[in-house]
Amino acid sequence: MSIIEVKNLNKAYNGTQAVRGITFSVEKGEIYGILGPNGAGKTTTLEILEGLKSPDSGQAEMFGLEVAKNNGGIKKRIGVQLQHSEYLPALSLKELLELFAALYHKRVDSSELLNFVGLGSKVNSYVNELSGGQKQRFTLASALVNEPEVLFLDEPTTGLDPRARRDVWELIRQINSKGITVVLTTHYMEEAEYLCHRVAIMEQGKILKISEPKKLIEEIANTSQVSFFTSDNVEESWWKQVPEVEKVYSNYPKVILEINSLDSVSKILSVLKAHNVSFSGFSLKTATLEDVYLDLTGKEFESES
Ligand SMILES: Nc1ncnc2c1ncn2[C@@H]1O[C@H](COP(=O)(O)OP(=O)(O)OP(=O)(O)O)[C@@H](O)[C@H]1O
Ligand SMILES: [Mg+2]
Repeated sequence: MSIIEVKNLNKAYNGTQAVRGITFSVEKGEIYGILGPNGAGKTTTLEILEGLKSPDSGQAEMFGLEVAKNNGGIKKRIGVQLQHSEYLPALSLKELLELFAALYHKRVDSSELLNFVGLGSKVNSYVNELSGGQKQRFTLASALVNEPEVLFLDEPTTGLDPRARRDVWELIRQINSKGITVVLTTHYMEEAEYLCHRVAIMEQGKILKISEPKKLIEEIANTSQVSFFTSDNVEESWWKQVPEVEKVYSNYPKVILEINSLDSVSKILSVLKAHNVSFSGFSLKTATLEDVYLDLTGKEFESES
């Protein structure tokens, strides 16, 4: 069942066409990623769905309701983490969460929610006392005060170190495992590949492709490469017993085998062992979502905003 339906959506800012006729839908329970470089139109798309901006034309529906006409009702059912957020500096984390909950006429167990995002010891701290990663986790907590059905995250991990990024990823997975649908934007291919059930690749206001990360990768690259270095003799005929090996390239001292299944890696190692080949630098290269992006756009993807 789709929880979000977008059809032919358009939005321009004084002449800049930020979103150009995009169509997509998000299923209930999905983690849906919108992937694209700076200025692609990701934030604009989210802000239309969040009811913060109105589209020039096209349809945006959530829970079967038109967003523009049901703003109030929809806002109660969604959680929003903006790309940049500011908080009242005089209030502690606990007080901020209680204030946000009150805005929704809800009560919140602020200690429990802060514990959930790993900030249990910071209940009485202030936002300006938090590190970047902690602040990001606090914005997640604040987007959850109204127990939303859909959570919108605009670049949830930009600027975080790898450890903090991983913590946020695990949190997003936990949130999703409670049945909350998540729509996020990102510049990071690994993030999309790790987290998202489906991704829409967006560039210059248009969606170039929508699919599961794994399928996108398989579509552009159905082979992987195994390579190693050796000064011993390696016969091409040996590989006949490993049918997954499609091609062999020898460029002394490097040997490259193109394989169509990762199952063959252990067989390749057995063949080398059986012939007493001594080798070094054994490596496996598989395609990533980054390769898909390069293939689609012919451009290097920006990894930072
Ligand atoms: N308030 C605004 N006024 C004028 N132009 C805007 C405004 N907001 C966005 N734009 C323009 O619309 C286009 C899309 O911007 P948007 O913020 O949606 O991109 P984005 O994909 O979120 O980029 P980023 O990865 O940098 O966050 C850009 O060309 C941007 O300059
Ligand atoms: Mg943005």
